[in-house]
Amino acid sequence: MSEIDVDVSGRLAGRVALVIGGGQTPGETIGNGRATAVLLARAGASIVVADRHCDAAQETVDQITAEGGAASAAELEVTDDDQHRALVEGIVESHGRLDMLHNNVGVSIAGGDADALDLDPETFDRLWQINLKGAWMAARHAIPVMREQGSGSVVNISSMAARMAYPLVGYKTTKVAMLGLTENLAITNARYGVRVNVILPGLMNTPMAIEARVGQGTPRDEVVSGRDRQVPLGRKMGSAWDVAHASLFLHSDEARFITGVSLPVDGGRGLV
Ligand SMILES: NC(=O)c1ccc[n+]([C@@H]2O[C@H](COP(=O)([O-])OP(=O)(O)OC[C@H]3O[C@@H](n4cnc5c(N)ncnc54)[C@H](O)[C@@H]3O)[C@@H](O)[C@H]2O)c1
Repeated sequence: MSEIDVDVSGRLAGRVALVIGGGQTPGETIGNGRATAVLLARAGASIVVADRHCDAAQETVDQITAEGGAASAAELEVTDDDQHRALVEGIVESHGRLDMLHNNVGVSIAGGDADALDLDPETFDRLWQINLKGAWMAARHAIPVMREQGSGSVVNISSMAARMAYPLVGYKTTKVAMLGLTENLAITNARYGVRVNVILPGLMNTPMAIEARVGQGTPRDEVVSGRDRQVPLGRKMGSAWDVAHASLFLHSDEARFITGVSLPVDGGRGLV
């Protein structure tokens, strides 16, 4: 699916967003984090694109600045609390505020995930550190800035794997936990004007989803058609732009009375 032809300009004018995992797994399509960073920039926000792969973050920044938007890249390993603290402090120093935190990082096959009986304890811990603890640490540094401002929005990225059968235990359990983290942060920060929501992407045509499976030996068109077939709406996977537009909505003032929500972006697959 292609980009959605809609004018979003001005919806986030003057705001500052931190998109964590805003780089991109190399591949033929665009990833959720990159598409979201690009869309938030089109809506007028200044974006700090953080990623463990600084060159991938810089590619996102280059795309944004080529379109006339404002962005900078930062290297961040989400399992490192000191790096989270330094990044948020740096953003407050350079931009004077932080309005949006977007927690996009999540790994499964690429992180060595496996069936519950095959996964080793070290990899289990590592997946929890990347997929859940990283988002919590980002929030614990960003939210105090938002509380001080009296406003702010956090969007976490979970997965429909949280609600449906999914064979790999690290991803399944961390994505369920992301819903709990979101609800906890939402209720404990509502009185400060800080909203926290979570998106559950379904089957998306992104490099993260496709390349890992192609890398395991399944032909690309088989991977794509097999996933397309499972989607009720149009019999086609969604794209990263669908996740990006849901993210833009949740971060924007149009969603000012929405917090603690778990929003599937899955073409109805969760209903099957
Ligand atoms: N693509 C899908 O079909 C699908 C479905 C459901 C949920 N999701 C969720 O979407 C999110 C990712 O989407 P994407 O398309 O942007 O993926 P992506 O892999 O293209 O981008 C994720 C980025 O996170 C970065 N990253 C990974 N580990 C990191 C770490 N330890 N520290 C810092 N950065 C790190 C990677 O370098 C990469 O640039 C994940 O949370 C994933 O679970 C995707």
